[in-house]
Amino acid sequence: MSEAKAVAVKALHGGSVVGRPGDRTRVGAVISVTGAHALVMLDPAHVELDRIHRPQIGAIMSIDAGPTVALGLVSAMSVPAPSLDEPGGDMRIVELELIGEFTKPSARTPARFRRGVTSFPTLGDEVHLATHDELAALFAASGSMSARIGVVKQDTAIPATVAVNELFSRHCAVVGTTGSGKSCAIALMLRSVLKRYSHGHVVILDPHNEYSRCFGDLGVVFDASNFSLPYWMLTFEEFIQVLYPSREGYDEEIEILADLIPAAKKIHASAGGSRMVAERRSEAGAITVDTPTPYRISEVLTLIDKALGGLDSTRSIAPYKRLRARLFAVSQDARYGFMFGGLTVQDTMANFLSTLFRIPVDGRPVSIIELAGLPGEVAQVVVCVTARLAFEFGLWSNGAAPIAIICEDAHRYAPANKDAGFAPTRKALARIAKEGRKVGVSLWVASQRPTELDPTILSQCNTIFAMRLANQADQEALKAAAPDASSSLLACLPSLGLGEAIAVGEGVPLPTRIRFDSLPHEAVPRSLTASFTDGWSVEVDDTGFVERIVEQWRAQRLLLPEV
Ligand SMILES: Nc1ncnc2c1ncn2[C@@H]1O[C@H](COP(=O)(O)OP(=O)(O)OP(=O)(O)O)[C@@H](O)[C@H]1O
Ligand SMILES: [Mg+2]
Repeated sequence: MSEAKAVAVKALHGGSVVGRPGDRTRVGAVISVTGAHALVMLDPAHVELDRIHRPQIGAIMSIDAGPTVALGLVSAMSVPAPSLDEPGGDMRIVELELIGEFTKPSARTPARFRRGVTSFPTLGDEVHLATHDELAALFAASGSMSARIGVVKQDTAIPATVAVNELFSRHCAVVGTTGSGKSCAIALMLRSVLKRYSHGHVVILDPHNEYSRCFGDLGVVFDASNFSLPYWMLTFEEFIQVLYPSREGYDEEIEILADLIPAAKKIHASAGGSRMVAERRSEAGAITVDTPTPYRISEVLTLIDKALGGLDSTRSIAPYKRLRARLFAVSQDARYGFMFGGLTVQDTMANFLSTLFRIPVDGRPVSIIELAGLPGEVAQVVVCVTARLAFEFGLWSNGAAPIAIICEDAHRYAPANKDAGFAPTRKALARIAKEGRKVGVSLWVASQRPTELDPTILSQCNTIFAMRLANQADQEALKAAAPDASSSLLACLPSLGLGEAIAVGEGVPLPTRIRFDSLPHEAVPRSLTASFTDGWSVEVDDTGFVERIVEQWRAQRLLLPEV
């Protein structure tokens, strides 16, 4: 700092030198307070300060408000009446959103931060840029229940942390345009949390097959070749959605199936298919169409054949025949091989849940379900059933083993447009968003298009990491969902850098701009982004290239278990 500047600064705040931790840099005084907003007139000499010590959008300022120190977030700045003749003498105004306060320390209690303001600033109160110590206390991790995820942009010496319980129990959304760093942020946060809580249960629904490298030995990867989700674990609604995605015009078939499935389940149970069910079979009506107990598709087909034998009019025969043909076709469809494959039907439910939800963890707390090789409607079924099973497991286990479901590209599975997508999937995800907290199931959603994501789900995400986002409508959708007084911060969304985010909500100490830590190179989610300039600089001189791609393409189908 030049000597002249140092003098100006000293004059400003009674002799302290700017820039050292703990120093207060007075910049102005309060001239208006309305509700949770305050206007500050900057001292003329503030222009002499280094840029870094002047208020900026998103910076935190402290106001000496008697018994407390109120904290305000800079939401706007202006010179209401600029003068052409005397630029130095302009009135400079800063608008603050009051976000919380520090209680002043006493002999017995240290300074403590709390959200909300009990002692409002009055006119003339001195305003300072928050000091390093104040910021450090603000963002201080709440003991062992927090995890570091990056740094605070206003002072990069201060770590940005998340409160683990709040982050998971009240759900989380990570939004931002493509390539803004959402998947990296999710991988980084999970790695950081799992480093502390190694007995976690995390399921990542991975539509781009990019997470397998992020967790090393901590992850178990499931894909079409090793993932089998028996059809009998589906609810009736889910099963119908697989058979008749549009539903309309199939009422008769659906009605017939609703009678036949419980009958087939009872036959399987009485044949000793499942010990537990067999024990319960004396309880009349214990098996319903939705009870997740095994049955054979061949048994349902036999029941249809028997029913057909007793029918004579063509009209009543037709729906049975159509249902038989459809059931047979779907059960033979290679795309659904992971549901209908396997020659024997066994009660593998406990095994399935324990593998998928990592109970016991066995040193690998993350399940990654790769969905990219699956056709869209099949991926929908997998997401739906995984989310529903997680919820029901939480319900029946009373949240004894909390589970986090991470849903990438959530707008595909829970679209805002109620007519799009697969209804049971949206329902399963929305149920976790609404009631998951009570049963120990957490939902994290990532999306490039918050406007296309079901607003009920977004509004239930009490922590939001908003990364670079240029689209106006998407920004508005976020502002509507953001839980804190953070609309001014969200205004910087289009200008955020790679790996930067506005973090708001209950999982973070304060709404603020953060920069995520860097993931080690080998753990960065595998991005499919190809470089055009690299690709267009050389000829593809391998003659078998296209044939090999076609072969691989087909092999992906053949990877599914044979039916
Ligand atoms: N925290 C980080 N550490 C290391 N690299 C990062 C980080 N954040 C972003 N990157 C870089 O940015 C690239 C894009 O990030 P990422 O794949 O997470 O974006 P995305 O928002 O998930 O994109 P999409 O919406 O297309 O999936 C990464 O391949 C990586 O090179
Ligand atoms: Mg991504």
